[in-house]
Amino acid sequence: MVNTTTTAGLIGVVLLARHGDRTGYYQDPSTYNSTQAYITPLGSQQEFDLGTFLRNTYLNPNSPSFIQNISTDVVNIDQLAVRADAGGGNVILDSAYALLQGLYPPTQKSEVTLGNGQTVISPLGGYQYIPVESLEFWQAPSLTSWIECNYFPYHLARVYGASAFQNMSIQAQPFLTALKPYLGGVSNNFTNIWNIYDHVNVQYTHNKTYYETLPATFLQQARHYANWVQNNVFTDSVGIGLIGIRTIFPDIIWALGNMTQPSNTVKMSIQEVDYKPFMGLFNMTNATLTDPDIAGIVDYASVVALELSLNSQGQHEVSLKFKNGTEDSEFRQLKMFGNTSITLDSFVNQLAWTAVNSTKDWCFSCNQTVTRGCSVFNYSQDPFFYGN
Ligand SMILES: *[C@@H]1O[C@H](CO)[C@@H](O)[C@H](O)[C@H]1NC(C)=O
Ligand SMILES: *[C@@H]1O[C@H](CO)[C@@H](O)[C@H](O)[C@H]1NC(C)=O
Ligand SMILES: *[C@@H]1O[C@H](CO)[C@@H](O)[C@H](O)[C@H]1NC(C)=O
Ligand SMILES: *[C@@H]1O[C@H](CO)[C@@H](O)[C@H](O)[C@H]1NC(C)=O
Ligand SMILES: *[C@@H]1O[C@H](CO)[C@@H](O)[C@H](O)[C@H]1NC(C)=O
Ligand SMILES: *[C@@H]1O[C@H](CO)[C@@H](O)[C@H](O)[C@H]1NC(C)=O
Ligand SMILES: *[C@@H]1O[C@H](CO)[C@@H](O)[C@H](O)[C@H]1NC(C)=O
Ligand SMILES: *[C@@H]1O[C@H](CO)[C@@H](O)[C@H](O)[C@H]1NC(C)=O
Ligand SMILES: *[C@@H]1O[C@H](CO)[C@@H](O)[C@H](O)[C@H]1NC(C)=O
Ligand SMILES: *[C@@H]1O[C@H](CO)[C@@H](O)[C@H](O)[C@H]1NC(C)=O
Ligand SMILES: *[C@@H]1O[C@H](CO)[C@@H](O)[C@H](O)[C@H]1NC(C)=O
Ligand SMILES: *[C@@H]1O[C@H](CO)[C@@H](O)[C@H](O)[C@H]1NC(C)=O
Repeated sequence: MVNTTTTAGLIGVVLLARHGDRTGYYQDPSTYNSTQAYITPLGSQQEFDLGTFLRNTYLNPNSPSFIQNISTDVVNIDQLAVRADAGGGNVILDSAYALLQGLYPPTQKSEVTLGNGQTVISPLGGYQYIPVESLEFWQAPSLTSWIECNYFPYHLARVYGASAFQNMSIQAQPFLTALKPYLGGVSNNFTNIWNIYDHVNVQYTHNKTYYETLPATFLQQARHYANWVQNNVFTDSVGIGLIGIRTIFPDIIWALGNMTQPSNTVKMSIQEVDYKPFMGLFNMTNATLTDPDIAGIVDYASVVALELSLNSQGQHEVSLKFKNGTEDSEFRQLKMFGNTSITLDSFVNQLAWTAVNSTKDWCFSCNQTVTRGCSVFNYSQDPFFYGN
């Protein structure tokens, strides 16, 4: 049956959002173990602006991407599902709150009338309190799945041992030597390039003396090398380098599948994360084949949208869009597997088999039997762990 009346507007959207500007963030180059940092006022503002952008895109009835039947001013909390990594500092969880403040700003329309006839609105001019599912480090690996994944350090060793890496390291040497005076105590070893870039970026953003003395192009050069290395670390050919996105695929696939059901209420699913899953998603959907420049770290407050709509044949379709932080003012249309949109069935066929669907699957995929919730499973019958 061809249904032409339902093609206007979207059915729903799944969003991956990166946190905003923060304090320094150290990642151990041999494990990528880390603790989170703290959000800054600049970071909250970036996320608030991202929320406003998403509001203009998805909650404005005049926008071509308006989501059918979504509440525009007063939030209906059943229409949103928001999840954020809460391990360590507060940067990712607080980024989700700041984004939501821009998405559904305070409104007098949230006024209610009590039994005694008195009218009230919530504090701060009608602030809207939206629940966020906060995922602690110890609860589940889903949003930080590279940490304490025992196979991840092997992957890192392979990346560092590759001849392309060695060559890039040689190419970067003169720059890293020139950068040394601007690194404080941070090692200028090329394997440490994430921490090098982070130090330069955080100091340049927040320290006036540093901002005024760092030579021109040093920030861009550090970013260039960090982009290259991080893209090698967090992409792979369906291996453990992609673990960051493979543990988020289940939520993406289930959320999109749920949105096709008549009984579903959730129209916007938001995952607040760091930069790693973006690289994995762009790699696994072949988006980097048609847009090679996106093979790098996404800026703070970046967003990726997987928009769900019905096509003229009545099939559910998914389309991938990306906004690189405050650098871009609009979404950029990307291609998945060479196509501007693909059917949801095709999306699932291409990606579901790579998904790490549960904590137990993660424990298995990472050879972890102790930490991160893995100790509750019984592996005694498992030939993978204990021979046969
Ligand atoms: C929107 O609401 C109308 C009327 O209630 C309903 O017929 C339609 O199926 C809804 N569409 C979606 C996508 O929820
Ligand atoms: C990794 O970091 C977590 C918290 O961020 C910490 O609990 C854990 O002990 C660290 N693991 C290793 C192997 O350093
Ligand atoms: C690294 O450099 C060597 C020597 O220049 C070259 O033979 C090799 O092909 C390069 N490897 C890669 C992956 O670019
Ligand atoms: C850089 O660090 C790696 C391990 O991360 C080490 O193998 C290598 O020797 C270091 N290089 C130098 C010049 O210190
Ligand atoms: C700011 O940068 C200067 C110059 O690099 C440095 O000496 C100083 O320690 C930095 N301040 C802070 C708070 O990091
Ligand atoms: C995905 O990443 C792997 C490892 O970096 C690379 O070999 C492959 O070409 C990438 N795929 C695409 C489509 O860019
Ligand atoms: C999908 O719907 C089921 C049933 O309502 C619910 O339990 C599950 O949490 C939903 N999953 C996602 C990712 O929205
Ligand atoms: C985002 O923009 C920055 C420049 O601000 C660039 O270095 C980076 O490669 C871009 N990332 C992606 C994924 O496009
Ligand atoms: C994705 O790109 C790879 C090359 O990196 C190619 O082999 C593969 O067929 C592409 N997948 C699809 C579904 O287009
Ligand atoms: C992309 O579009 C082509 C042409 O319509 C189609 O044959 C192919 O199956 C699509 N790829 C995916 C992954 O859906
Ligand atoms: C994960 O679950 C999906 C259904 O959502 C299924 O298609 C896929 O095969 C599962 N993946 C693995 C590796 O079990
Ligand atoms: C997997 O973990 C088991 C138990 O901790 C260990 O004996 C085994 O060597 C590990 N396998 C690999 C390939 O690292």
